Amino acid sequence: MPSPPVVRSVADLRATLAGWRGEGLSIAFVPTMGALHEGHLSLVRLGLSRCDRVVASIFVNPTQFGPNEDLAAYPRDEAGDAGKLSVAGCHLLFAPSAAEMYPPGAATVVTVSGVSEPLDGQARPGHFAGVATVVAKLLNQVRPDVAIFGEKDYQQLQVIRRLAIDLDLGVEILGGPTARAADGLALSSRNAYLTEDERRRAPELAAALAEAVLALRAGVPVAEAEAQALGRVQAAGFGPVDYLEVRDAGDLSRMGPGPLPPGRAGRILAAARLGRARLIDNMAV
Ligand code: PAF
Repeated sequence: MPSPPVVRSVADLRATLAGWRGEGLSIAFVPTMGALHEGHLSLVRLGLSRCDRVVASIFVNPTQFGPNEDLAAYPRDEAGDAGKLSVAGCHLLFAPSAAEMYPPGAATVVTVSGVSEPLDGQARPGHFAGVATVVAKLLNQVRPDVAIFGEKDYQQLQVIRRLAIDLDLGVEILGGPTARAADGLALSSRNAYLTEDERRRAPELAAALAEAVLALRAGVPVAEAEAQALGRVQAAGFGPVDYLEVRDAGDLSRMGPGPLPPGRAGRILAAARLGRARLIDNMAV
């Protein structure tokens, strides 16, 4: 199957999209940083189920990586990604350069307060400003009807929902369910960093969260369920755990330490290091 056409400039992107809009076609958008896996492809398929055309972007956004993070090592395989997008049915790939996205003189940074402050906001200072800035730009460049993000990056999804409301972007933000390997590990481009032994232990993160969800639903206090899950993750040999917390599913404010209040949707979220990889995962409570 031929790969989807690739455009690298905002001008070429807009020209193609204007043609589609002129024909009355609706557009779904799946922004990515490449190194695509089944999770990304499920978002493309979700886009196809909602709109006439699906655009994906691949841009490893430098502004969302901290100085000691893995920007240089981040896996890149545009040709392989284009093949996968084509099989999934994607119609257009936008793959801009850093200079196209951030021309000389670029000076605007978008920050979303509140929901971007705890969890990864604390562990990765500046990360969500980088995400919010690039996503605001991408949404403006594509102006899709629907934009789709994976629930695996749950805090990112909530930050983008807030951003789209606050900036009146007029786009529907959809979350796609986390894709998992058969043993429960959430699919992530960063799983490529795991050694064979680490890969065997990695599913313990998801298992610990799933166990905590059952405990919370049975009325176990939040603090106790969090402590049990943390112990399980540490026993599996994970290094520093940045956070493992139950939060409000909407604004990510803290819940607990007692049992979950009835009728309030919660989310349990965790980030922990295993060797070179920093794994994140989350589940609805
Ligand atoms: O989730 C990602 O891959 C990235 O954070 C995103 C949304 C494409 C912004 O660079």
